[in-house]
Amino acid sequence: MGNKKILVTGGTGFIGSHTVVELQQHGYDVVIIDNLSNSTIEVLDNIAKITGIVPVFEQFDLADADRTTDFLHRHSDISGIIHFAAFKAVGESMEKPLHYYRNNVQSLINLLEGMKNNGITNLVFSSSCTVYGQPDELPVTEKAPIKPAWSPYGNTKQMCEDILKFTTMAHPIHAIALRYFNPIGAHHTSLIGELPLGVPNNLVPFITQTAIGQRSCLSVFGNDYNTPDGTAVRDYIHVVDIAKAHVVAVERMLNGKCKLDLEIFNLGTGIGYSVMDVINAFEKVSGEKLNYKIVPRRPGDVEMVWADTRFANEELGWKAEKNVDEMMLAAWNWEKALAAKKI
Ligand code: UD1
Repeated sequence: MGNKKILVTGGTGFIGSHTVVELQQHGYDVVIIDNLSNSTIEVLDNIAKITGIVPVFEQFDLADADRTTDFLHRHSDISGIIHFAAFKAVGESMEKPLHYYRNNVQSLINLLEGMKNNGITNLVFSSSCTVYGQPDELPVTEKAPIKPAWSPYGNTKQMCEDILKFTTMAHPIHAIALRYFNPIGAHHTSLIGELPLGVPNNLVPFITQTAIGQRSCLSVFGNDYNTPDGTAVRDYIHVVDIAKAHVVAVERMLNGKCKLDLEIFNLGTGIGYSVMDVINAFEKVSGEKLNYKIVPRRPGDVEMVWADTRFANEELGWKAEKNVDEMMLAAWNWEKALAAKKI
């Protein structure tokens, strides 16, 4: 028997590309679907430089039901699907809500429909800690209540989890939803990493682009939060740790170890770092002085959130291994590698 085949949607994106590498290194055949709306085709070559294997790739939009059906019909030997493909910018989702609902929700429906019709039974879904809003208790467990969404983006993650809940009840499909906290960093080879188009929304790419001279100054959004240094606190996690959790989730499904039709796990380190902690870690590992200024809070930001990781650690047998210094060094090395390519 050949290797098991896994479909990775959004496989040329930030978390997707790192997961493709881990899957290939664990002996899986990987097929990627991506519409390249927020990634580039060169990522495939860079994956191949790391693993020696060029993944099979098709470029199309999963919101296109006919294309998705046709693809799954041709690839009905797929053992499982990891579904990353989605839009993820909170601010943009406020301006273009329908764009977000169509892309994020319709794509999942099309995939599930295709799975049902072709006997594909395993799905890992990219969810987010955004579903918790500002939790009442920290660290936040998977049992914490889902709070009303603050953005269409967050709402699509909640809706997708609901769709999975009822679809897995009605049909012979297993799903694992992984709620990521704040994925950062890059592969240690600096061949793949985060490639934000335009001005980055997220903290770490903004830090590294400022340090490399592409941006003049980082804005720190608020220092009047009720936190030790006044800046907001998040659970930053290395993207390779996140990628490894996906391999564990796939193996759990393929080995028939799932205990519920839909299982949900937090993917975080369990440690909260403030924006200033992240800046300080960056300055320490890079030796660079970062130009930043304090500005008012960003609307929609929660004050603090970090994961209770016990359920994922015990049930999946997975634990995030890398600390914030390693994350920042990897992100910085990646930024420097990108800059070297541009010269
Ligand atoms: C956001 C989403 C999260 C999503 C993630 C994906 C919410 C509430 N959060 O996370 O669901 O999965 O993006 O990309 O929906 N900051 C600055 N200056 C900057 C940028 C950020 O000070 O230029 C601060 C923010 O205020 C925040 C922290 O850095 O306190 C992290 O921000 P960011 O990287 O954008 O991630 P989140 O907003 O936590």
